[in-house]
Amino acid sequence: MKAAGMAAAGAGLTQAPFNASAGTGSAGLPALLGGQKAHAKGWPAWPRWIPETDEADLLKVLRSGIWSRAGVVSEFERRWAEAMGAKRCLAVVNGTNALVTALAQLDVGAGDEVILPPYTFIATAQSVLMNGAIPVFCDVDPATYQLDPKKIEAKITPKTRAILPVHILGLPADMTAIMAIAKKHNLLVVEDACQAWMAEINGKKCGTFGNAGCYSFQNSKNMAIGEGGAIVSDDEAFMDRCYSYHNYGNAYGTAVGAVGAGTAMLGTKLRYTEYQAAMGLAQLARLGPESALRHANAEYLKGKIKDIPGIAPYTLSPGVTRAAFHLLPFRYNKAAFHNMPRATFLKALSAEGVPCSSGYAPLNKMAYVKHAFSTKNFRRMYAPAELDYAAWLERSQCPENDRLCEEAVWLSQNLLLADRAAMDDIANAIAKIHAGAEKLAKA
Ligand SMILES: Cc1ncc(COP(=O)(O)O)c(C=O)c1O
Repeated sequence: MKAAGMAAAGAGLTQAPFNASAGTGSAGLPALLGGQKAHAKGWPAWPRWIPETDEADLLKVLRSGIWSRAGVVSEFERRWAEAMGAKRCLAVVNGTNALVTALAQLDVGAGDEVILPPYTFIATAQSVLMNGAIPVFCDVDPATYQLDPKKIEAKITPKTRAILPVHILGLPADMTAIMAIAKKHNLLVVEDACQAWMAEINGKKCGTFGNAGCYSFQNSKNMAIGEGGAIVSDDEAFMDRCYSYHNYGNAYGTAVGAVGAGTAMLGTKLRYTEYQAAMGLAQLARLGPESALRHANAEYLKGKIKDIPGIAPYTLSPGVTRAAFHLLPFRYNKAAFHNMPRATFLKALSAEGVPCSSGYAPLNKMAYVKHAFSTKNFRRMYAPAELDYAAWLERSQCPENDRLCEEAVWLSQNLLLADRAAMDDIANAIAKIHAGAEKLAKA
């Protein structure tokens, strides 16, 4: 059935390839043109909160009146470090400030360049600029969506201090290759694992390859606490500094609220609350099984859509034993869909009952870097030639990323918590749109 269907789709016939019933009646017509939805059932809600299992410990915290950082936060940190396979963890207010703190406490700052991919959330680049360093964008591999290790060395200069790989969409970056480059050039590595909780390469968790790994627990995340973040590392002295930094610069171990214990270094306040930690512990209890389900469903769905013309699913980096799939991406080639724009494809897929989006715009072309270069701090830190924005922009071109930003389609992680029949529905929806692309493109 599948093979015959693929042949039909390949020949451009208006027949859906995967679903015997899809080629007949209104079921075969794209929902956007009035046909039946491929998936009418809805999707698992996100975030999840299960009163029976999640509420008792949170209520205990709320009723205790101890809401600032105390024992539950320490317990969360211990458990997160253990889950990631790291020696230490520090919970902080969010993923953005986890990155800012990690870079600051590795002394990445004025005069330094940090190599990072442009296919990421804005916080990755802002964390570099917030420390007074200059982001140097390195192109991505469109198959994996990750920083392309083959292109990193061309970006290294005497000013390069660190590489900031991002395990974007929850798909691990090629850390084996990246760590080899970092070692060869004596560079620091801070991993943005803000979308990659529990993802692993050869059984080792993302966030534990470099000097530090940073996570986000913001509301949409697979590990959702509303807001929250964490840093992990095996480097005790570094983690002590991170702790101090997140607690006004007070010496590590200083009791929360204790005054007069002495303030050792420059710092700010980024502390986690007890109720965030209680919520986090509840979410962490489910993270393992949910991650395994997402991975299994993603690979199943990939198998079902990989032969649809014009649909190129993700490729995992070498050695990946689990991806987190915060988002499931594929690339859409409109040439195989009668030149139907991606925006119409997204509309058609949404109409089939499959929520989807287009993802990131090129981060290397937005105005924030120009603004940062114009600030008083940057003008005091750098010579005018070093803040030549046109030259920076020229050096930051990433054509593969530009294409990826135009072609990517994202499905969000909660879809991957549904059952196999729902994965079949997604595949059928895409196949139906492919089969009906000529009509859709004209509509
Ligand atoms: C890749 C990436 N980096 C950093 C962040 C920042 O995390 P937060 O929103 O918790 O500050 C996010 C999340 O939003 C992210 O997706």
